[in-house]
Amino acid sequence: MTAAPAAIVTGANSGIGLETARGLARAGYRTGLLCRNQERAEIARADIAASVPDAQLETLLCDLGLQADVRRAAADIDARFDRLDVLVNNAGVELQRREETAEGIETMLAVNHLGPFLLTNLLLPLLRRSAPSRVVVVASEAHKFRRLRLDDIQAERRGYGLLGFPRYGETKLMNILFTKELARRLEGSGVTANCLHPGSIRSGLGSPPRFIRPLVGLFLRSPEAGARTSLTVATDPALDDVSGVYFMRSKPADKRLSRQARDDDLARALWAQSEALVGLT
Ligand SMILES: NC(=O)c1ccc[n+]([C@@H]2O[C@H](COP(=O)([O-])OP(=O)(O)OC[C@H]3O[C@@H](n4cnc5c(N)ncnc54)[C@H](OP(=O)(O)O)[C@@H]3O)[C@@H](O)[C@H]2O)c1
Repeated sequence: MTAAPAAIVTGANSGIGLETARGLARAGYRTGLLCRNQERAEIARADIAASVPDAQLETLLCDLGLQADVRRAAADIDARFDRLDVLVNNAGVELQRREETAEGIETMLAVNHLGPFLLTNLLLPLLRRSAPSRVVVVASEAHKFRRLRLDDIQAERRGYGLLGFPRYGETKLMNILFTKELARRLEGSGVTANCLHPGSIRSGLGSPPRFIRPLVGLFLRSPEAGARTSLTVATDPALDDVSGVYFMRSKPADKRLSRQARDDDLARALWAQSEALVGLT
């Protein structure tokens, strides 16, 4: 009997990540739920198990904002998974005021970009051994909110901007540039890398001012709808050879990318700076 394919979803305890993990478990993947809190991870595991009775689920603990913890988690995954067919980099945060992690890195940079960057790089040997395999990155149309400035990568001079949206968008632009450069580096390896916008989804992300919340809610779609594009990009056999592409509504959408998101030189420069920041050089 061949072993079940395996997937890992980061931020799998809520919103789009929970529904992506549920979809992968339903599709027969042994699914790793990577979460930063054990209790929330166990609640998610029980929730998925209740709706997918034969689900094979593993909880994986990791605070993506802390590089030491990402390194520990990657070693844990290596020990527990002998194959990895799909890695969904889904976790993300949206903060309103500038914060730094205990390691002295601006927090949205740490969680939204450097954590997934380091995790993916550390898991590349496993992904390569498991090829054909896929890396999926949940980015956003918010990547258009602000231009990326590599000379202020920690947002020390510019701060976060109005309600944190500009800085959040800047980290989502990093997700797209990371995916493009990763796909280029993985050409011919059998490992693909694609990114996506999930839609405007009701979830735990951000918090609009209280007085407009009911209004905003009217325009948001369900987390199940938000997981659809991630699931297509992670599993659709028609996408076996597709790499380096931005998806929306489960369709290629590179035409919607900002000019910076298509800038290969910027992607290469961000990669080099990210390597230095996580100590991979
Ligand atoms: N919702 C939208 O409209 C929308 C639109 C475009 C893109 N996105 C993207 O979709 C992705 C999923 O977001 P969502 O909307 O489903 O929001 P969500 O419900 O807030 O889910 C975010 C997940 O990320 C986890 N997370 C946050 N910080 C973490 C850390 N340091 N280490 C590990 N996990 C961490 C959260 O864990 P905790 O529960 O422990 O905090 C949670 O499981 C994000 O990348 C977001 O940028 C969302």
